[in-house]
Amino acid sequence: MKCIRIGYGHVAEWHEKKLTEEDVTTIGVIDIDENKRKLALEAGFQVFSSYEEAFKLKPDFWDICVSTDFHLDILQTIRSLDFHANIIVEKPICHFFQINTLKKVLENFPGKIVVNENYVSSNVTKNVREISTSLNLKPTRIISEMSKNRTADIRKGRFLDQEFFAFGYEGSHMITNILELGEEYFPAEIKNPHYGDMHITMPNGKICLPKQGRVEKKYISKSGAEVILYTSMAGDIKYYYPGPFSFFDKIVEDNNTRYRILAVEDEKKCMAVVGFYEPVPGLNRGEGTVVVFEKGDIKEYIAPIYDDTMGLSLKNAIHYFLEKRDNPCTVDMAIEIVELFHLLKR
Ligand SMILES: NC(=O)c1ccc[n+]([C@@H]2O[C@H](COP(=O)([O-])OP(=O)(O)OC[C@H]3O[C@@H](n4cnc5c(N)ncnc54)[C@H](O)[C@@H]3O)[C@@H](O)[C@H]2O)c1
Repeated sequence: MKCIRIGYGHVAEWHEKKLTEEDVTTIGVIDIDENKRKLALEAGFQVFSSYEEAFKLKPDFWDICVSTDFHLDILQTIRSLDFHANIIVEKPICHFFQINTLKKVLENFPGKIVVNENYVSSNVTKNVREISTSLNLKPTRIISEMSKNRTADIRKGRFLDQEFFAFGYEGSHMITNILELGEEYFPAEIKNPHYGDMHITMPNGKICLPKQGRVEKKYISKSGAEVILYTSMAGDIKYYYPGPFSFFDKIVEDNNTRYRILAVEDEKKCMAVVGFYEPVPGLNRGEGTVVVFEKGDIKEYIAPIYDDTMGLSLKNAIHYFLEKRDNPCTVDMAIEIVELFHLLKR
């Protein structure tokens, strides 16, 4: 298949790698930034200054990798030009305040749109859901934790989210994993969140970044289960489960160690099913594991589980365009994630 890529930044690089593995050829790149266009040319891509020019090459699909602010405008442009277009658009599909306009723009659009909410395609999440169901668990508590020590990144000048604070980085992935467990885990009663500041030692002294250190969001779901979303940018692990990680409560300041889990607990049965997302110690990149606990002991250990979510998500999108499967993440599913993200904003 042939694609036109819009946006030549960080995520575009992953798309190029993963889509090449699916026999996709990028026949052109569009980017508003002159330096990015220069880089694309140097990498051997044809660069277009207009969508009309790119459309003449009859792409099989368009791959939108630009900043979220512009997803809506670009979807509108493509729709007006290529009425039956196939489109991959990065997550989130749009901002909360754009949802109504997005719905209008896409009304009666016959093309195919896949939103790259990559955790929708996670095999670890799928295993957690299927194993919990097969064990007939009635979840009393569900925990999604995604923690990483980003101190070094921040020292180097990493972008800081001043709207969603610590929740802005992994929040939508955590929400996606919870929603993949079932609609019954949508919130019924939201509790007050707890934020922690980030303290970083710089050459000229210590600085404090308000609400950037960690956040814990809790709610009672429609099913009655308590749902906890926790993330720490300072690398402070809160919900440790035994399994692939030997006990630790602080993630070292490197680029590879992350602690990303999804736990489904049934207090009455004294059981828990816990998914560990990659990278997992002792496994290759792109491999995760699921551990089943009964009365605190490990009952089952499933590893490795192939879980390169970015690769899986893009592969599923291509298979959908080729009519080999259903849509892995529709616009409606993506809107639901944006709505829940907004609901949990405070
Ligand atoms: N699925 C994931 O896990 C994941 C991870 C990171 C980023 N993302 C998403 O990917 C998108 C891009 O993020 P990124 O980190 O690659 O950003 P980035 O800033 O590195 O790259 C964005 C690129 O788009 C270009 N651009 C911006 N507006 C444009 C426009 N109107 N027309 C053409 N080009 C334009 C910029 O010049 C830049 O080159 C965001 O929506 C982000 O949320 C998803």
